[in-house]
Amino acid sequence: MSTAKAPDLHLPSPLTELHDDRLSAADVRVLLKRDDLIHPELPGNKWRKLKYNLAAARDEGARRLLTFGGAYSNHIRAVAAAGQIFGFDTIGVIRGEEHLPLNPSLRFAVERGMQLTYMDRTTYRTKTTATVIDCLHQQFGDFYLVPEGGSNALALRGCAELVEEIDQDFDVICCASGTGGTLAGIAAALPPSRTAMGFSALKGGDLLREDVASLQRDAYGRETANWSIETGYHFGGFAKTNDALRAFIDDFDSKHGLRLEWVYVAKMMYGLFDLIQERRFPPGTTVVAVITGPDFTAEG
Ligand SMILES: Cc1ncc(COP(=O)(O)O)c(C=O)c1O
Repeated sequence: MSTAKAPDLHLPSPLTELHDDRLSAADVRVLLKRDDLIHPELPGNKWRKLKYNLAAARDEGARRLLTFGGAYSNHIRAVAAAGQIFGFDTIGVIRGEEHLPLNPSLRFAVERGMQLTYMDRTTYRTKTTATVIDCLHQQFGDFYLVPEGGSNALALRGCAELVEEIDQDFDVICCASGTGGTLAGIAAALPPSRTAMGFSALKGGDLLREDVASLQRDAYGRETANWSIETGYHFGGFAKTNDALRAFIDDFDSKHGLRLEWVYVAKMMYGLFDLIQERRFPPGTTVVAVITGPDFTAEG
């Protein structure tokens, strides 16, 4: 398969050490894998997941991409941007009803040429069934289907490339998890005796384990036994926050000059610091923390 190449990609993404008294107190090193800097409109795991899907769409001769997402989805933004950059028409199937004026994420998508269509929540839950997909084909004609959150076998292949870029020795790699695709791809690419840890940004992170395993089976025909999921740092569920998380983000920003994306990345980083302070990692451990995306939107 050919590969898609976007202009101005910052790859390999930078790897920088985080200096913080809480880390030195536990004798743990944390290296930040700054995937948020890969591209302004296709940052982080968005580029990694779309890379081989865009190539597959082009190889199939598709002219149109269709995908699904919530009204604040970063994935919808990224598919819209990718469509404009790579010359595909894009259709975004949005969960729920239309709300006008459009929020900044959907406005961005429309500005990048995406056609939006809305799906009621009940139908949305069955969006992967043949009946719903057939209906979408009747409405929109041919399209290359990118799943919600962008996670499929080709996405895992793109995420796996992150590991090959790391040129320092490390023991554990951490990322935030939603659909689990990023974790599944990273874990599959790890050298022996390294482990991957996902931090679920959603309630019900236990169910995510089966999703990660099934994504790995689809992509590689087998599951790997080198990953785990922390389920205690969802802060009430998807896109929920509280004073403790807000304070953590402010403090991290003032100490390190990096405003953490609050839906996913800040929850992972909060969890990682918590585990380090609880001495879950033996002294001398090196952790790579993947910054899977930038702070697109202030909490709203
Ligand atoms: C910034 C960021 N980090 C992490 C994730 C979760 O990635 P995954 O769905 O592959 O678990 C997302 C969602 O796509 C995201 O936008």
